[in-house]
Amino acid sequence: MHACDTIHSNEISCSLSVPLLVCHPAIPPPASEMGVSNKAAYQRVLYSIIVILAGYVAIDLIANHMESFPALHHLSACSRTSRAALSKESLDVKARSVAGEEDDEPAKCRTLEGHLDIDNKSVLLENQVMEDDPYRQMKWIGPPSACRVRGLLIERLDPEMNFRRGFSLRHASDVEDKTHLLPWLLAARVDLGSRRRRVLLDLGANSFFTSLTWFLRMYPLDFTEVHAFEVDDRLLRKPTSGFSEYGNIASPNQWSLMVKQTPGIPPWMLDRISLHHSFVSDFDDDGIRAINITRFVKEKLALTAADAVIVKMDIEGSEWPILNRWMADSEMAAIVDELFVEVHYDHPSMRGYHWARFSPTKRESALALLAELRLHGFFAHAWP
Ligand SMILES: *[C@@H]1O[C@H](CO)[C@@H](O)[C@H](O)[C@H]1NC(C)=O
Ligand SMILES: *[C@@H]1O[C@H](CO)[C@@H](O)[C@H](O)[C@H]1NC(C)=O
Repeated sequence: MHACDTIHSNEISCSLSVPLLVCHPAIPPPASEMGVSNKAAYQRVLYSIIVILAGYVAIDLIANHMESFPALHHLSACSRTSRAALSKESLDVKARSVAGEEDDEPAKCRTLEGHLDIDNKSVLLENQVMEDDPYRQMKWIGPPSACRVRGLLIERLDPEMNFRRGFSLRHASDVEDKTHLLPWLLAARVDLGSRRRRVLLDLGANSFFTSLTWFLRMYPLDFTEVHAFEVDDRLLRKPTSGFSEYGNIASPNQWSLMVKQTPGIPPWMLDRISLHHSFVSDFDDDGIRAINITRFVKEKLALTAADAVIVKMDIEGSEWPILNRWMADSEMAAIVDELFVEVHYDHPSMRGYHWARFSPTKRESALALLAELRLHGFFAHAWP
């Protein structure tokens, strides 16, 4: 029997170019030279090849065909469960240390000064070399504030970097960079997902593909309702591409892309989005299409503290009277779970965007407003 026959039999069938490897040593040498030690060497080579191939088959079975064997599948499910348990545990530990429930709230956190805690070292002054130079950090996550909001740590307010951080570091051309916000997002740390109504209010939405798309894709909460306000109806429109998530699957293999086209917003999500082409305001005025947003939230939407409500607000200065009203109304602090607000002010760095019209409001007042919101229990971030 030729050595190749063993390999070609059905017992071991592999795609490796085995015959070349095996046939070569199997060519019988002249009988006179074929000593006992030579024969043993050939056998060892053959056995090694069989062991290597069997190992290869076993690894392939485990790595690629686990699902075909219920028994093996059970094993892998076990290890997956324990992995999940492990990572859940580490998350719990993290949540506990983030929430730090055992810590007592320092008395200064019941004052505006407490929430205005600014580390002057982190304020970027012109021509000053900073200890931790944020210009040398692509993904800069600032330290937590000394004071918690609703018992949770939140980013320390930074009067320069938090206001358009990526932009001031020249890593983004406008407002795209939100890495400084990611570790602090409420829905990543508190279970908002089990609330029945999960609502996003995008006040001052601009076009569909800016903040609205960012929240739909990136914010870790599955919204059941989205209300987007933008007075200009040519600016804010729903995409009508008829994107189908089911039709966007390519059969999974390593040579093709897994989706056929860039995913869009599926129709069922579009159905949950309501567009409002009105001014977000503190008062109602049909003449100028202004809507009293506080009334809208409480009466029209009938939102309560039991709902998950995330608010993004970028309404060109109208935030001032509205937020002052909300701070005087503890019901609003209970309704709004998390608030992202672009506070408008006059500062040389923003005059190119026509922010001089917000004079005499200064950047320091914007900072104080954010601190005051936190003091009143709003989990508030500077947006963007
Ligand atoms: C930081 O600077 C402000 C004014 O620029 C000052 O009022 C405040 O006391 C300083 N804080 C610290 C901790 O030095
Ligand atoms: C806006 O609505 C709220 C809630 O209904 C109300 O308390 C407030 O007075 C209204 N604002 C104005 C300016 O009338």
